[in-house]
Amino acid sequence: MSTLPRSVVIKGTGSYTPANIKTNDDLAEFVDTSEEWIFTRTGIKERRFATEGENTSHMGTEASRRALANAGIQTSAVDLVIVATITPDMPFPSTACLIQTQLGVSNAVCMDIEAACSGFLYIMEVAASMIKTGRYQNALIVGTEKLSSILDWEDRTTCVLFGDGAGAAVLGPSDSPQTGLLDFKLGADGANGEVLFMPGGGSANPATGTSIDNRLHFLKMRGKEVFKLAVKVMEQAAKEILEQNGLNSDQLACVIPHQANLRIIELLSSRLEIPMDRFYLNLEKYGNTSAASIPIALDEAFRDGRINSGDLVLLVAFGAGLTWGATLVRCP
Ligand code: ACO
Repeated sequence: MSTLPRSVVIKGTGSYTPANIKTNDDLAEFVDTSEEWIFTRTGIKERRFATEGENTSHMGTEASRRALANAGIQTSAVDLVIVATITPDMPFPSTACLIQTQLGVSNAVCMDIEAACSGFLYIMEVAASMIKTGRYQNALIVGTEKLSSILDWEDRTTCVLFGDGAGAAVLGPSDSPQTGLLDFKLGADGANGEVLFMPGGGSANPATGTSIDNRLHFLKMRGKEVFKLAVKVMEQAAKEILEQNGLNSDQLACVIPHQANLRIIELLSSRLEIPMDRFYLNLEKYGNTSAASIPIALDEAFRDGRINSGDLVLLVAFGAGLTWGATLVRCP
């Protein structure tokens, strides 16, 4: 008889967002913008920015502590830590290894995976596949970002959109095939990489006086192109995953989309013919937190009672790369 798990379930979730809140009006004090411009174009009202000492690993560690407590799992039982981030504390060691030490998860295999705002859906599939080998029992997956460290305060088209924070989930095996992470649909299109990227800081453009003068160490984005591509790839991934599982959108209790822009989500809602009241939204409070966006929203949706046992939930994201993904979850 096979001992391989029949499914992978979410055992617990947790999130952490910095206490330092900056409203649109706060930003308008030092950026040429306004509360009205930001809110009407994005739906964002405020975001959290990390303060001194609140690094990406620190926020990820706090979210992980909460996820482990929620799952009722001891740190000694965690055997895998995978982190999704585009703002690691440093190029190496990995943020997963830094979190391992801060949490005291000494028995775990640790690695980072980078897929920008789709990162959490990428690490979910990687962790689930590793658990399905039967070799891992308690995987901690973490999306954590300190985007304030790469924002260009002289570029008002990008700096108003992003915030900092972290979310985590504990995944483990289950014998019930109808619950947990039912399916994944990931994708990538490197040819569209330059619509959203950070040119400096890697081996192509290491830090020099010139790279700093040329502002290469900040996020760059062609907003209109990203907007159109985001709607297209999320619509496609959502439709494909529903179709390949013989499901229709009426069966979804909740959609948790990447929290980038309310206008993108509204267009996605109309293309998928899923009413907006079935989309979970918290971008008003946090802005776009990239890889942390889905796990923060997932944690809040569980805690708010927006998703409950037996619910079918669709997670859907897009991000730099381009990357995208959709995941179907049946809550245990
Ligand atoms: N405040 C005030 N005015 C502004 C601001 C601002 N913060 N930013 C731009 N403007 C001005 C522009 O200068 C322009 O003025 P002009 O007409 O005098 O030239 C005007 O507003 C319109 O600018 P657009 O760029 O055309 O604005 P648009 O309506 O396209 O909205 C936005 C911009 C909100 C960025 C939109 O394109 C968008 O949401 N794109 C998707 C972005 C996104 O979701 N990115 C997440 C990526 S996920 C990841 O992987 C990180």
